Amino acid sequence: MSAGPSFSAPVGTRDVLPGEAARWERLIATFAGLIERAGYGLLHTPLFEDLGVFQRLGEGTDVVRKEMYDFEDKGGRRVALRPEGTASVTRAYAQHRPQVNPWKIWYLTPAFRYERPQAGRYRQHHQVGVEALGSPDPDLDVEVIALGHEYLAALGLRRVTLLFNSLGTPADRVAYIDLLRGWLTDRLGDLDPDDRARVETNPMRVLDSKRAATRDATADAPRITDHLSPDAARHFERVLEGLRALEIDVVLEPRLVRGLDYYNHSLFEFTSDVLDTAQAAVLGGGRYDGLVEALGGPPTPGVGFGSGIERVLLACDAEGVFDVPEPSVDVFVVDVTGGDAARDLTVELRRTGIAADRAFDARSMRAQMKAADRSGAALALIVGPKEAAGGQVTVRDLRGHDHRPDDAQTTIARDQVAVRVNELLAAARPTSPSGADPATEER
Ligand code: HAM
Repeated sequence: MSAGPSFSAPVGTRDVLPGEAARWERLIATFAGLIERAGYGLLHTPLFEDLGVFQRLGEGTDVVRKEMYDFEDKGGRRVALRPEGTASVTRAYAQHRPQVNPWKIWYLTPAFRYERPQAGRYRQHHQVGVEALGSPDPDLDVEVIALGHEYLAALGLRRVTLLFNSLGTPADRVAYIDLLRGWLTDRLGDLDPDDRARVETNPMRVLDSKRAATRDATADAPRITDHLSPDAARHFERVLEGLRALEIDVVLEPRLVRGLDYYNHSLFEFTSDVLDTAQAAVLGGGRYDGLVEALGGPPTPGVGFGSGIERVLLACDAEGVFDVPEPSVDVFVVDVTGGDAARDLTVELRRTGIAADRAFDARSMRAQMKAADRSGAALALIVGPKEAAGGQVTVRDLRGHDHRPDDAQTTIARDQVAVRVNELLAAARPTSPSGADPATEER
C-alpha cells in the first residue's frame, strides 16, 4: 500500500493521550462521587438532536447563531451536534415526564461549538454538569451552587471566585431588557462598534462585553437586581442567605449575563483567578424555569451547571494542584524463555485481580527490565531458563532498591505465584488501605 496523506485532529479539537486521560478519569470519578452522594443519577442522551432542540437555547445567542454544528442527515432531517448539556436534558424530561421531583441528574458530555480556537476554548470541549428539574425552591439553587463549589475544592482549586446575579422572573427579565435597550440606544455612540448590533438583538450581552469602551459606557447602566419583582427578590435573598450559611463566598456581579438565553432568577459562574479572562470561566449555570415548556413539556422549573473539563484542568495546572500519577500496573512479567510464561502468568495474575503487564517480541532481558521500569510496576516477575526448569519465579522489587539483587530479590514457587505476589504487594504498598483515593488523601 502506498503512503497516504497525513492527518491531524481537526482545528479546535485535541487528542487526550493516556497520561492526561488518567487525570480526566480521576476528575470524573471525583465529580461523580460527590454528585451521586447528593442523589443525582447519570443520564446519557444522544450526541445529536433535532436542530430545534438547540434553537431553544436562544436565537440571540452566539451559540445558536454562529457556532452550531448543524447539518442535514441522509434522511433530510436537520440535526445538530450538542453545543451544551442542558437542552438535551430538558428535552429528555419533556419526553419521559419522570415522576420524581426534583429529577436530579448529572452528565458527562462532549460539546461542539464552532468558536475561534484559542487557549482554553475549543470546538469540541467536554463538560461535566448537573440539572435538577421540577422545583422552584431557591434552596435547590443553593444545593447546586454548593455542589459546584465542593467539586472545585475537591480538586484542590483555591483561587476561584463565585460570581452571582439574578435575572428575576421571565417577566422581570423582559421588562428589564426593554429598559436596558432604551438606555443603551441613547448611548449607542459611546459603545464599542462591535457591541452596537447587540443592543437590538441581545442588549444584556452588551453588559458583559469585555471591550473597554463598552465597559466604561455601561458602568452606570441600570442593574437588574434593582428591578426585581417581590417574588424574585425573595428568591435572590434566600439563595444568598443559603450561601452565607454554608460559608461560600460570593461576589455579586450585576453585569453577569452568560451566553445562553434561557436563564431566569439565579445565574452564577465560578471563575479562576489565575487564568486569563477569556478562559477563566471554569463552571457556569443558573435557573431556567421556562426551558422544559419551550421544548414541549409541562411548565417545569430547573436549575443546573456545566463545567469544562479542559478549563478546570488548566486552572489546576496554573495552581499546581490535582496532580494524578500515571497509570501503572502492579507487576511486570519478564520472560526470557520464549514467551509461554509471560503469556500464562499475566492472564493468571489478572484473573486474581492483580494488574499485570509484559513485553512482547521476545526482547532481551535488558530491554524487558527497562520496560518493567517504565510500566511503574512494584514487582518484576522474572522467568529465565533456571526458573523455568525449577518450577520457580524470581521476584524483584522495582521500587527504591536500585535493582540491587541481594536485598530486593526473592524466589517463589510457580504454582504459588498469585498468592505470594498478593502478599508481597500488600507488604510493599506504602500508602492507603485499598479503595482510598490518593488524590483526595493528599489534602
Ligand atoms: P456555558 O457557560 O456555555 O454553560 O459552558 C459551561 C462551561 O463549559 C464553561 O464555564 C466552560 O468551563 C466550559 N466551556 C464552554 N465553552 C467552552 C469552549 N469552547 N472550550 C472549552 N470550554 C468551554 C452551559 O453550557 C450551560 N449548559 C450550563 C448550565 C447547565 N446552565 C444550567 N445548567
